[in-house]
Amino acid sequence: MKETVLVTGGTGFIGSHTTVELQQAGYKVVIIDNLSNSSASVVDGIEKITGIRPAFEQVDCCDFAALEGVFAKYPDISGIIHFAASKAVGESVEKPLLYYRNNLNSLINLLELMPKYNVKGIIFSSSCTVYGQPSKENLPVTEEAPIQKALSPYGNTKQINEEIIQDYIHSGAPIKSIILRYFNPIGAHPTAFIGELPNGVPMNLIPFVTQTAIGIRKQLKIFGNDYNTEDGTCIRDYIYVVDLAKAHVKAMERVLETEDSDPVEVFNIGTGRGLSTLEVVEGFEKATGVKLNWEFAPRREGDIEKVWGNVDKANKVLGWKAEAKIDDVLRSAWKWQEKLRADGIQ
Ligand code: UD1
Repeated sequence: MKETVLVTGGTGFIGSHTTVELQQAGYKVVIIDNLSNSSASVVDGIEKITGIRPAFEQVDCCDFAALEGVFAKYPDISGIIHFAASKAVGESVEKPLLYYRNNLNSLINLLELMPKYNVKGIIFSSSCTVYGQPSKENLPVTEEAPIQKALSPYGNTKQINEEIIQDYIHSGAPIKSIILRYFNPIGAHPTAFIGELPNGVPMNLIPFVTQTAIGIRKQLKIFGNDYNTEDGTCIRDYIYVVDLAKAHVKAMERVLETEDSDPVEVFNIGTGRGLSTLEVVEGFEKATGVKLNWEFAPRREGDIEKVWGNVDKANKVLGWKAEAKIDDVLRSAWKWQEKLRADGIQ
């Protein structure tokens, strides 16, 4: 058995898939989650896949005393993967203080406790949103591209958190960190025991697509068909959540086991390929054989026209590569939606 890893937000979409991959790689996992946007039953799904039940504590990372209690209870924790955060762009515009409070305090609390409890490394969930709309010369975007002023408080919390980590480590804190900038995570575990469970009307494309396909939503709107792209719709780099989860295992191995790596490193985690919204919608129909009711609608405020990642650094340095085929990824999302229906959840 390898080291123990604390996964904050471990019952969430990316956190649950990462817990599975960590366990399958031999790590012991302790999950903490305040269940504000997920359910404790996700732990059952993880156990069904791996045969191992991760430890679970319902704790909010903003509650310093409760968080310290977790480190005291599990003294073997040597690494953290920090997913727990509020993540709805629109909501962050309406409730900025909630976002700054949740997303900044939770990281600060973790960083403060790490040296005291001998925790060596932290992997932080950042986002390609920090690049804003990269200029034409900067596409596919590398980690060196300029950071642009965030378009939402959510995006700003990602930028500020990256800076907090950099500043803390440069101050001499005895920890290491890897910052992962995700592109657009999609899909579900092939077993359909875990997946994405949006609260209310989904904001993200794939849950809206699958909910439309199954009849929960009447019609999918494709936001904007007059962008400066081949088919006029936006372009994103859609990364399979299981591939993304595996990137965290590589990052954890590097942070805990590589002596000579820099104390803070940043990696893009994507496929390196851009797909238009229309390509995804048509790809879904082709991959699943399900017809979607969709129409073009006006642009969505704040949307970036096109962004996809240069992932050479992650390929070379982490030894990680996105492997899934988009058809399989879209089928996994559909299988998950069908499972939710069969279980009477959605
Ligand atoms: C954005 C952020 C990402 C953040 C995520 C959180 C960027 C580049 N990305 O993702 O960092 O983690 O929000 O929610 O800022 N679309 C439709 N119809 C729909 C839904 C979406 O056409 O009903 C289109 C959008 O216009 C967009 C694409 O699908 O072009 C993907 O949208 P979405 O899944 O919401 O992700 P982003 O906005 O790219």
